[in-house]
Amino acid sequence: MGAELPLFPVQASTMAGRVDALYAFLILVSVFFGLLIAVTLISFAIRYRRRSRDERPPLIHGSVALEVAWTAIPLGIVMVIFLWGADLFFAMARVPPAPMEVYVVGKRWMWKTQHLTGQREINELHVPVGVPVKLTMTSEDVIHSFFVPAFRMKKDVVPGRYAAAWFQATRAGTYHLFCAEYCGTKHSGMIGSVTVMEPAAFQTWLAGGATGTSLAAAGEKLFQDLACITCHRSDSEGRGPKLDGVFGHPVTLASGERVVADEAYIRESIVNPSAKVVAGFQPVMPTYQGLVNEEGLMQLVAYVKSLGGPATAGPGAALASPAPATAPAAATPAPPPRPKGQGR
Ligand code: CUA
Repeated sequence: MGAELPLFPVQASTMAGRVDALYAFLILVSVFFGLLIAVTLISFAIRYRRRSRDERPPLIHGSVALEVAWTAIPLGIVMVIFLWGADLFFAMARVPPAPMEVYVVGKRWMWKTQHLTGQREINELHVPVGVPVKLTMTSEDVIHSFFVPAFRMKKDVVPGRYAAAWFQATRAGTYHLFCAEYCGTKHSGMIGSVTVMEPAAFQTWLAGGATGTSLAAAGEKLFQDLACITCHRSDSEGRGPKLDGVFGHPVTLASGERVVADEAYIRESIVNPSAKVVAGFQPVMPTYQGLVNEEGLMQLVAYVKSLGGPATAGPGAALASPAPATAPAAATPAPPPRPKGQGR
C-alpha cells in the first residue's frame, strides 16, 4: 500500500507504505496551506494597499461564518491526522501473533543480536522475508535507538528495561541499521545492516551459523553456572519458586499483587530480586546485577521462557515460534498452574 515517495528510503516492510501515506498527507496539507497563505498574503497586500496619504479603512465587525469555518475546517483536518496516526501507532505497537523472536542489545558502540537458535551477530541482523519479527531490546549502558529507515521502524533502547518492537520485511535485500540517539563519541559509527533473505536462503544461513547451542540452552548453562539451580529446583523443594510453566502466567506476590511473568518481570527478578517477591517465599535471593551482562540476562529469560508458558516453543523452534508476545493479562486464557511454593 502506498506508492514510493521520491527522495525517501525504499519501502521494505509492511508498515513502510502506510507510514509514507500518512507522511505524504502531512506534506500535501502543509504545501496546500503554505501556498494558500502565501498567495493570499501577497494578493491582499497588493489589492488592499494604501493608495493615498489620508485614506482610512472602513470599520469591520467580525464575521461568525468566517470564524466558524476557519475553526471547524482545521479541526477536521487535525482530527483526521490524529485518528490516522493513532491507527498506525497501534498497528506498530501491537506485535502480531507467532512472531520470530530476536534479542537485541545496544552498547557503545555496537548492536548485538541473538537468535533463539543461538546465532549471534554484531551490527548485523539476518531475517527471513514475509515473517513478523519481534525484537526484545535493551541497552547495556546509555540510551540508543534502533532505526531501520527502510522498515520505517525506530525504537529507543533504555538501560534497565526491555523494549519490544516488530517488523515484517516485504522484500529481500540489505538495509541500513542506524543508532538514532546521540550516545557518545562513536555514535555515528554505531551502524550496521539488516539482511532480509528468502525463507530457504535464511534456513541455509541459520544452518551455516549454527553453534549447536540454542539461546535457551545457553541460558540453561548460565543457570547452572550461576548456581541458580540450587534454589530454583524443579522438584519445588527449593528456597526459590519453581520456574517450570511460570512464563506468561500471572504470579501472586508477597504484597498480594498479581503480575504477569513476562520478559521484563524475569529480568527484574534477576537483577533486583527483592522488588517483586513471590508469595510464600522469603526475600533471600541476592542480586545478580553486574554478574550477568544484558546478553546473559536475555539467555536466562529465554531459558525460563523455554520452561513453559501458555504456548511453549521447543528450543529449536526458530521460525515463527509460537512463544507469546509480551502477553497482556487478557491474553492468558488458560487457568494458570500455580507455583507449588505458593501459600505455604
Ligand atoms: Cu548508540 Cu547513538
